[in-house]
Amino acid sequence: MKNVVSDASRGAKMPNETHANRLLRKIDDRSVVIGIVGMGYVGLPLAHAFCNAGFRVLGFDVDEDKVCVLNKGGSYIKTIDPSMVSKHQSAGLFEATAAYSRVAEVDAILICVPTPLDKFRNPDLSCVENTAQQIAANMRAGRLVVLESTTYPGTTEEILRPLLEDGGLKCGEDFFLAYSPEREDPGNPKFTAENTPKVVGATDPVGLDIATKLYSSIVGVVTVSSPATAEACKILENTYRSVNIALVNELKMLFDKMGIDVWEVINAAATKPFGFQAFYPGPGLGGHCIPIDPFYLAWKARQYDFTTRFIELAGEINTAMPEYVVNKVAQAVSDHGKALRGAKILIVGMAYKKNVGDMRESPGIRLLDILVKRGATVEYHDPYISSLPRMRDYAYKMQSVPLSGDVLARQDCVLIVTDHGNIDYAHLVERSCVVVDTRNATKSVPLHLLKKVIKA
Ligand SMILES: NC(=O)c1ccc[n+]([C@@H]2O[C@H](COP(=O)([O-])OP(=O)(O)OC[C@H]3O[C@@H](n4cnc5c(N)ncnc54)[C@H](O)[C@@H]3O)[C@@H](O)[C@H]2O)c1
Repeated sequence: MKNVVSDASRGAKMPNETHANRLLRKIDDRSVVIGIVGMGYVGLPLAHAFCNAGFRVLGFDVDEDKVCVLNKGGSYIKTIDPSMVSKHQSAGLFEATAAYSRVAEVDAILICVPTPLDKFRNPDLSCVENTAQQIAANMRAGRLVVLESTTYPGTTEEILRPLLEDGGLKCGEDFFLAYSPEREDPGNPKFTAENTPKVVGATDPVGLDIATKLYSSIVGVVTVSSPATAEACKILENTYRSVNIALVNELKMLFDKMGIDVWEVINAAATKPFGFQAFYPGPGLGGHCIPIDPFYLAWKARQYDFTTRFIELAGEINTAMPEYVVNKVAQAVSDHGKALRGAKILIVGMAYKKNVGDMRESPGIRLLDILVKRGATVEYHDPYISSLPRMRDYAYKMQSVPLSGDVLARQDCVLIVTDHGNIDYAHLVERSCVVVDTRNATKSVPLHLLKKVIKA
């Protein structure tokens, strides 16, 4: 494996060159070395985008197993093909490491570590804080640091900056600091790190110039006046989704009582060429962003004695969806003369969204848990998740079962939680007793089969 930082003198400043000019020159001539901290769903595609543009990237991760896979030219993220990693590696553009001491070798550091909620649903910034402490201990003068992790407005200035300055370097003089939120949409090949504009806000104009120049090498950049504005922009984007999904989830429950199909309503409304954007109901929110990020803002708002009522209400409605779906399943088996206790239920799709293998915050696991607690016998099928990983709140040891006619026929109800694209839904409905569909995945099955389908 080639070392991406092959020339020890490459960090050197020219005589009389400022830190800023050195960075700008090195971005121009592609000699800048980019360190990306957190080789996950965000960091790895970002590394790929910079390598594609001819930059050298050193990927940092505390997970030694991931470092090992990457340095063998492999990948653990379905949407990043191993050949993408090995290509950049053999070109000497990419290497992974768990050693923070190697921060000293890079010119720009982009932080893409997790920002979850703790068990009281408050922001848990421990990964960002640990990363900042490690960077501060190892960073040399003249570097650019950018936070990409989603967080509440104020994090870059209030949390990251003082931790970095604890290392003895001064922000705006010895290093430059910016915030630029990731806008990754995993599993959607249409939007990538190379065609989705980046919003950038920095602590000073020089830092903004440097960060803008760096990101402009891979994608269009939208600059804003401060890191807090960029942080707020990311949270607005995710809150907008959460609130609109809650709205259609609520209308789904009402329209169901009225005998109206919410999917038909939304698809009809979406034909309006202005003033309406379609959002779709589902079994509950999932993923690393929408169920979590709005609560970062709600937490921060409390410091200003302000209640974010839309966020709280949307959270309440979306969180109640799995219970609503389970009640639909109970109704479906009851219509066939059975109780939920003792019923055999197959969950189809455990990932939080279609065509990905990511289970974080997935409503599938919550549904599994409620069904098991209510006495059902549950199996699952997911083409992207062969066995359930151990999760913070759940430890179900289960393997995905094949979607064979026999497996379908032995169920009292099949519950579609995720509408993966590679499933034959007509076959699924045909071989099932009754299907509860939370995603309108059965929209194209032949008409005579639809009587077996209950939308939830
Ligand atoms: N996944 C998405 O679709 C998405 C989209 C937009 C924004 N984000 C945000 O991006 C950030 C990262 O999310 P992700 O989905 O890539 O997470 P992830 O869990 O896939 O990856 C994070 C990586 O960081 C590593 N890590 C944790 N602590 C570390 C530390 N101290 N030093 C080095 N590495 C560390 C983990 O081992 C992991 O490999 C989060 O703030 C998230 O909210 C995610």
